[in-house]
Amino acid sequence: MAMARFGATAAGGVNRQALSAEDFVAQAELVRWGEALGLAASRDRIGNLFLRLPGTDPDAAPVLSGSHLDSQPTGGRFDGVYGVLAAFEAVQAIIERGVAHRHPIEVVAWMNEEGSRFAPGMMGSAVFAGARTEEETVSVRDAAGVSVADALAQCDIAMAQVPLRALGGPVHAYVEAHIEQGPVLEREGIPVGVVSGIQGKHTFRVEVLGEPSHAGTSERRERKDALIAATAMVQALAAEFHDAEDITKFTVGRFEVFPNAPSVVAGKVVFSIDLRHPRSDRLRAMSARIEPICRAVQGPCEVVVTRLSAADSLEFPTALRDRIRSIAGRLDIPSLDLPSAAGHDARYLHPIAPSAMIFVPCHLGITHNEAESAEPGDLAAGARVLADLLVELANEPARKESE
Ligand code: GLV
Ligand code: MN
Ligand code: MN
Repeated sequence: MAMARFGATAAGGVNRQALSAEDFVAQAELVRWGEALGLAASRDRIGNLFLRLPGTDPDAAPVLSGSHLDSQPTGGRFDGVYGVLAAFEAVQAIIERGVAHRHPIEVVAWMNEEGSRFAPGMMGSAVFAGARTEEETVSVRDAAGVSVADALAQCDIAMAQVPLRALGGPVHAYVEAHIEQGPVLEREGIPVGVVSGIQGKHTFRVEVLGEPSHAGTSERRERKDALIAATAMVQALAAEFHDAEDITKFTVGRFEVFPNAPSVVAGKVVFSIDLRHPRSDRLRAMSARIEPICRAVQGPCEVVVTRLSAADSLEFPTALRDRIRSIAGRLDIPSLDLPSAAGHDARYLHPIAPSAMIFVPCHLGITHNEAESAEPGDLAAGARVLADLLVELANEPARKESE
């Protein structure tokens, strides 16, 4: 609740865009809380923030745990921030109980998970893990034309007191706690979800280029109305991806009209596509159909379809899932296995280190919505399981991390 002050909305939610003033204040607060526990803060060039608890072996790769502090414009108080603070609470408990561990444990807040201000999302984790280049990432611009590079320069000023560290590096293991963002755990009355994997997600930017002209004088045969073409594309795509079983998820969440003036035929429309499916082969096949479908209804306009990200479905290692289940059992906390329909930074850590996710219930599965809510008891249960798992992982022998 203390974090939710930063970017608080009138309706009780959070609007904390990546690398915004609100984000920097939230990060600075986390750094202060960490300092009070003796945690060393550091940040990397792409805007990821770390709080480090040393282990007994200074050369061992860290166990990382966290999520993100940024939110959607109509975000809630739990998506992302819960995973950061669950890791923080776990570390606090480890310190207060004096639990010995070999590997350092680092709390991490990844830069721009949501992809709301700068698309696509999961920038910090993707660049950290080497899945995307720093160059392509820093050149992305927000709707106001501010680049990630510009925003990172602001971060350098706002977070000047936090030392920079090298980007990337070996990771012994990664664990991310998160609200489920679905209704299953609450419905079943189960406080902890063992996440089996994450469904695939491909994102696109579609630019429809027409020609601005006078709403009263321009003749129909001369018009290049980007809005008419773009809405036809959206309808054609929605029809194509309509799925009676409701497994395919197709969303156009952003639709920008230029010049967006009542008496000007739209000269340009830019819209987003978020397409998801648990089967990677199906997802790839659907993605390949997007451009031809748009072209088929472009009329006199031009269309440019740009794929922003293409993340296939993944499954987390069974060994870690088994451990979460058995830790929950040991703590007398009921748990349930379930997949994640939402995307998470764990997706990008998964290829570089053994990774896992712990879900907790959120009310009615409402999320990316200011009404998002969760029960303190469930949040605590997830953090307890996380704490025990972090201790176990941090006491493992070192892997050959570079392999
Ligand atoms: C992450 O927020 C997602 O959109 O799945
Ligand atoms: Mn999230
Ligand atoms: Mn989210």
